Amino acid sequence: MGPIRVALLGSGGSIGRQTVDVLTRNPDAFRVVALATGSQGQILEEQARRLKPVAVSLADVRAAARLDLPAGTELIGGPDALTVLATRSDVDLVVVATGGLVALRSVLAALEAGKIVATANKETLVAGGHLVMPLVARLAAGAAGATGDKHHPLASPLGWLRPIDSEHSAIWQCLVGEEHAAIERLLLTASGGPFLNATVADLATVTPEAALRHPTWRMGAKTTIDSATLANKGLEIIEARWLYDVAISDISVVIHPQSVVHSAVQFVDGSIKAQLGTPDMRLPIQYALTYPDRLASPAGAVDLIAVGHLDFRAADEERFPCLRIAREAGLAGPRASAALISADEVAVARFLAGSLGFNGIPRLLGAAVERFGAAHRAEPGLDELIALDAEVHTFAEAYR
Ligand SMILES: NC(=O)c1ccc[n+]([C@@H]2O[C@H](COP(=O)([O-])OP(=O)(O)OC[C@H]3O[C@@H](n4cnc5c(N)ncnc54)[C@H](OP(=O)(O)O)[C@@H]3O)[C@@H](O)[C@H]2O)c1
Repeated sequence: MGPIRVALLGSGGSIGRQTVDVLTRNPDAFRVVALATGSQGQILEEQARRLKPVAVSLADVRAAARLDLPAGTELIGGPDALTVLATRSDVDLVVVATGGLVALRSVLAALEAGKIVATANKETLVAGGHLVMPLVARLAAGAAGATGDKHHPLASPLGWLRPIDSEHSAIWQCLVGEEHAAIERLLLTASGGPFLNATVADLATVTPEAALRHPTWRMGAKTTIDSATLANKGLEIIEARWLYDVAISDISVVIHPQSVVHSAVQFVDGSIKAQLGTPDMRLPIQYALTYPDRLASPAGAVDLIAVGHLDFRAADEERFPCLRIAREAGLAGPRASAALISADEVAVARFLAGSLGFNGIPRLLGAAVERFGAAHRAEPGLDELIALDAEVHTFAEAYR
C-alpha cells in the first residue's frame, strides 16, 4: 500500500491549516494531490510550495490570476473546480474543510466516484444528509460484498464518510466493534461556550468580541459564535442523526465545561463508552485520515490527574433556544434543516458586523425555519437545496 492520496477542500481555513499540519507531519502516510481554498492566495502558495500538489484551485478569480505556483502544480478554475479536484482518478480521500454548502456538490460527486470523504463540514449532512447517506450506504454494501467481511473498515458507512467534528469522531470511536442494535442513546458533549453561566439579561448585551472568546477551543469565527449560541450543538444533533442512524429523540446534549470528554454512547445494558482527549482538532482530523489505524499525534494525551475532575450538567434550552430550534428543524426534515444552516450563516455574519444582537440570532433562525421549512416535508434535490440556500440568505439579510 502506498501513501493515501488526499484532496483538501478549504485548505486555508482553521480546519484546513490543521489538516495540512497533520499531513506534513506524516509524509510517508499521505501524498497531497489537490488543495483548494477561497480567497487566501498567499496561504495557498505557501502550502503548494510545501506540499507540491498536482492541482490547486482558488475561488477568488482575481487572486487566482496572481498566484505564483511551483512548477508541476496546475491551477484549476471555474465553478466546478472543487468537483474536478475531488473526483480526480489519483485521489483516494477528500477532506472537506469548507463552510456552508460550498462543497456539497463535490462531496456527492466524490462519493459517486468511490472516494472516501472525511468531513469537518456539518452543513453537508445537516442539509444534504438525505442525498449523501444513500451513496455512503451503497459504497459500504459494495465493500462488504467485495471483501466478504462485514467487519472490514470500508464495510461500514463510517469507513466512507468519516466525521472530523470532535463530537462525532468521539461517537465513531466509541462505536468501533459495536452493533447498531446495542445503541441506546448518543450523548453529545458541549463546553457551554463563553456564556455558560450568563443570565438571559446578560445575553442581550453580548458583544462579538466576548462571543469570540471560546474557553476551550480555537476555531474559525463562525464556529466560535455557533458554540456561544449552542446553534453548533443543534447542528451536531442533526449531523449525528444522519451519521449514526439514530432518532433525534435518542440524542442528548450534556454540558461539560472542560471539553475533555468529546462525546459518549450509552448502550442498551446501561454501559457508557466515552472518548477523552485534549481539545485539539488535529486528533479527530488524523483519526479520520488513518482509520482504522492510529498514529502518534502532536495533540498529546490528557493528563487526568491534572484535570482533576470532570463536570456535567443539563443544557438549558431556555437561555440557549438555538438548541431547541435546531432539534425541531431536524425533526421537520431536510428543508427546515437547510433553512436553519443558511439562516445561521447570515445571522452570525450580521452579529459579527453589528447589525443583529446576540439574541437576534435565535429569533432569525426560528423565523427562517418556520417560513421555509415547517410546512414542507418533501426531500429537496441538490439544485433545490442550492436555490433554497439563496432564498433564505435574501430573507435573512432583510430580517428585522
Ligand atoms: N474550526 C473548527 O475547529 C471546527 C470544528 C468542527 C467542525 N468545523 C466545521 O468545519 C468547517 C470549516 O470550519 P473552519 O472553522 O475551518 O472555517 P474557516 O476557517 O472559515 O475555513 C473555511 C475554508 O473554506 C474556504 N472556502 C470558502 N469558499 C470556498 C470555495 N468556493 N472553494 C474553496 N474553498 C473555499 C475558505 O477559504 P479562504 O479562507 O481562502 O477564503 C477557508 O479555507 C465548518 O463547516 C465548521 O462547522 C470546524
